[in-house]
Amino acid sequence: MRIAKKIQTIPPSATLAVNAKAQELAAQGRKIISLAVGEPDFPTPEHVCQAAREAMDQGFTRYTPVPGIPALRRAVAAYFNGVAGRTPSQEPPMEATMVCNGGKHALYNLLQALLDPDDAVLIPAPYWVSYPPMVQLAQGEPVIVPSAPENKYLISPQDLERVCTPKAKVLLLNSPSNPTGCHYSQDQLNALVGWALERDIFVISDEIYDQLVYAPAEPCSVAPWWFKFPDRIAVVNGLSKSMAMTGWRVGYVLAHPDLIKAMVRIQGQSTSNVCSIVQKAALAALTGPMDFIRRMREAFVRRRDLALAKIGSWPGVICPKPDGAFYLFPRMDNCYSRAVPDSTTMCTRILEQVGVALVPGAAFGDDRCVRFSYALDDETLLAALDLVQKALEEA
Ligand SMILES: Cc1ncc(COP(=O)(O)O)c(C=O)c1O
Repeated sequence: MRIAKKIQTIPPSATLAVNAKAQELAAQGRKIISLAVGEPDFPTPEHVCQAAREAMDQGFTRYTPVPGIPALRRAVAAYFNGVAGRTPSQEPPMEATMVCNGGKHALYNLLQALLDPDDAVLIPAPYWVSYPPMVQLAQGEPVIVPSAPENKYLISPQDLERVCTPKAKVLLLNSPSNPTGCHYSQDQLNALVGWALERDIFVISDEIYDQLVYAPAEPCSVAPWWFKFPDRIAVVNGLSKSMAMTGWRVGYVLAHPDLIKAMVRIQGQSTSNVCSIVQKAALAALTGPMDFIRRMREAFVRRRDLALAKIGSWPGVICPKPDGAFYLFPRMDNCYSRAVPDSTTMCTRILEQVGVALVPGAAFGDDRCVRFSYALDDETLLAALDLVQKALEEA
């Protein structure tokens, strides 16, 4: 087979690789607990499922406009308007929004629409695994901006300045972050956006975890900037995390109508519209009751604190307290040895020895760390952490 060269540089998804190994061991009869999951362990709210059933019953099963049904686009516009703290009558036009097959697809479309060959994209590390490959698939060049656990893995304009090149066209922000769970304050976010705008660098803000921010931290967003500089900013969000809808595949974006038109051309020649039934469910999710999110948030805060108390007590392990998402990203390189020299070996060992699946930090651009997801019930979470502790003690 002669597979295209551009694909050869794309690594397979590290999270999928861990899951595959875990499944292999489970198939051999081993009991495996996965702390590698990237999705809430809650079912999708009933009113959302009901809207999907009704859509089917009503025969809402045909093609829709590529960027989404108008009612959903208007709901997306209203959502971003609210996030930006604006009053309801000030919503952006629906032409500034688009519905895609997940936040991931929205990011993919954006990068395809924005990048020419060799344009550079500034990506703060640790980063979500898909950012560099998505940039490469758009023929761009990922430029990694390192951060430190001591600074809660947050970057500053000075960090950007250090690595910025004249080729930099896009800054890709993600707060709260996967894998660290860390979260910028509005002032910190404003400083990064201000830095980019001064240099004519376009800002993409991936805010997929925006509903999972834990007090006293406050939710914040790049959306207010979009209203001042609509041609320089795009904000991505979706329902996977906030409404426990990972399998439904629905995400959306706020961007300049010209950029949306370009993305619609890409989506129109690839996947076309998001599933019509899912769009009705998404409309119910965005316009219906939101108490589900509050309950999920409360569970995540409790689990974060349980997990942090445990991991933070392990000798040599440094774990910043995250303000959002459902991940902990401790630095564990003090536990490395000649036999366990990196995060991949450590995760493989832990999986084989005690049956707990974790994701190596190397997949997120920081080999000193390991990602723990706490999107599972308290009891199983604590049992899994005890097992990891046992593996570390025996190493
Ligand atoms: C940081 C980040 N962005 C985007 C996504 C994409 O989510 P989806 O495509 O399910 O909306 C994820 C999913 O894990 C993520 O962690």
